[in-house]
Amino acid sequence: MALKYAWRDRSRCRMCHVCDEIVACPGEGVGQAEGCVGCRACELACPNGAIKSKDRLGSGEEIKIRVDGHSAHVPGRITVKDALEHLGYKFSKYPGEGALFAPCEVGGCYSCALKIDGVLRPACVTAVRDGMEIATSPTDLHVPRRIVEGWMCHTVGGVGTPWYLKGGRKYVEAAVFTCGCNLRCPQCQNWEITYRGKGSPMTPEEAAVKMTLTRRSCGVDRMAISGGESTLNRPWLIQYIEELRRLNPDEKARIHVDTNASILTKDYIDELVEAGMTDVGPDLKGLRLDTFMRISGLEERELAEKYRRTSWDAVRYLADKYLGEVFIGVGIPYNKSLISIDEVSRMGEEIFKIDSELQVCVLDYRPEFRQRDIVRPRVEEMVRVWKILKDAGLKTVICQTERGHIGP
Ligand code: FES
Repeated sequence: MALKYAWRDRSRCRMCHVCDEIVACPGEGVGQAEGCVGCRACELACPNGAIKSKDRLGSGEEIKIRVDGHSAHVPGRITVKDALEHLGYKFSKYPGEGALFAPCEVGGCYSCALKIDGVLRPACVTAVRDGMEIATSPTDLHVPRRIVEGWMCHTVGGVGTPWYLKGGRKYVEAAVFTCGCNLRCPQCQNWEITYRGKGSPMTPEEAAVKMTLTRRSCGVDRMAISGGESTLNRPWLIQYIEELRRLNPDEKARIHVDTNASILTKDYIDELVEAGMTDVGPDLKGLRLDTFMRISGLEERELAEKYRRTSWDAVRYLADKYLGEVFIGVGIPYNKSLISIDEVSRMGEEIFKIDSELQVCVLDYRPEFRQRDIVRPRVEEMVRVWKILKDAGLKTVICQTERGHIGP
């Protein structure tokens, strides 16, 4: 197998130290060819595109590990994920395909976490070492974990927050953000959380206790989880919501999930509602596949199409089965550099066909992360988008602008 290391292009590096501060580096830091295990987490997280993978010379020494009780030889100085792939194990970015699930690859979501030397660790950012014991089905007392960050009282809320709560100065929600995402949006609006792999992963119970305390200190009834991508680690999210419901049995308590909906299958939606989810904000990234790929930054067409289709199907299923029981707010992107007005209009028509009662929230994408050359849409542009969507027949349309929300 080709061995890699992370190489820093000094002409692009702005010394922001993101690669030191948020990246879960299992090696000795960027540019250390001898100490790098080629996980690519720093390359994915660098906001300046200053880190590239380069081939490492030589084949490296072999080491001996044990996987599911069997001994095997693999190259040294690679990740556990790469070692398992070397041995024929499959990893996938779409769950339930008979493979291990590794959607974020930066150590944030813990979907790929395995029992490694008796401890739950993410395979994507853990280095193999001689004598390591790996269990790929850690069944014994396995409590899921995940890195969650940024507990806060929120005055605006997210895509799945009802419009009538937005716009005031009071807190509307207690919020927290999950690290790790399966998309690679070049204009990611929350990239320091999305690519964070450093930090202590929490159990669902620990996170639910912390959210309950945050709810109390904010003096609100709504508890939101966003990301990154909140749905990646399914067992974690389901247990978190169940525990949150147990700790907040009052009728006023609302549990809100914001998501890109790219892996939100029907059975997953049913499980979330059963667990206690009351509000959901599926954030659609485009109608056409090439738009979806541009906005999500994905390069694999087949995977992007699977995500795009799943997200639209999720909105259809939610509307068919749960409208009235669960509050549904659908997100749409707008920035003329990323999506045309015509496509936004067609997205509105598609949502109208699903159900005109769905709340639609248009997000004005601003320059962020690696896409700092785009211009944030002017308020007049967002007013035009609002009118187009209202003309499509949608009852509730709100548009995020630099001067607050407009609509409904
Ligand atoms: S895929 Fe490894 S932590 Fe998310």
